[in-house]
Amino acid sequence: MVFPIFTNFDDLKNACSACNKCNLCETRTNCVFGVGNPDAKILFIGEAPGENEDLKGEPFVGRAGKLLDLYLNGIGLDRHKNIYIANILKCRPPENRDPSPSEQDACIDWLREQVRIMRPSIIVCLGRIAACRLISPNYKVTQEHGIFYEKNGTLMMGTFHPAALLRDPRRKADALEDFLGLQKKMEELGISTD
Ligand code: URA
Repeated sequence: MVFPIFTNFDDLKNACSACNKCNLCETRTNCVFGVGNPDAKILFIGEAPGENEDLKGEPFVGRAGKLLDLYLNGIGLDRHKNIYIANILKCRPPENRDPSPSEQDACIDWLREQVRIMRPSIIVCLGRIAACRLISPNYKVTQEHGIFYEKNGTLMMGTFHPAALLRDPRRKADALEDFLGLQKKMEELGISTD
């Protein structure tokens, strides 16, 4: 099926909420489209909603989300003001398992359309699943985190998933460096946090 072209986020969100392109629509409470400012220049992309996100309909609202907010706020970013946050999958995989390739294939057009409408200057991939899908299939977070790649005129950077930082706090210093690198890149590009 040819994916329709949308002209604004609201129409796209409404269509996404009714999506039944994969089986995850049968078990979701909410479709988790994203949160933030669609006019922002920076887009963060995680993996998939977990239990809390499914219940609330917003990405990164559990423990990992609280940690993400700390890193964001530390460099003047705010999920309700100057960034947008979305996921590779809009619906929760049962038991929080990894999104399967076929689920990602079924869902990716929603994200593609989000990116097309938003036209972000920088995309930050949170964790392996997003980075492998969007930067390169062989992406290694431990080796490539913090490096900016250019793809189709957009800068793309991967960093640790906040849930991985909760599991292995030794990585928190690396993640902080990645966020400071993001702040520097924003300054270079003249992206303000106002
Ligand atoms: N993990 C993700 O990757 N995304 C969320 O929205 C929540 C947890």
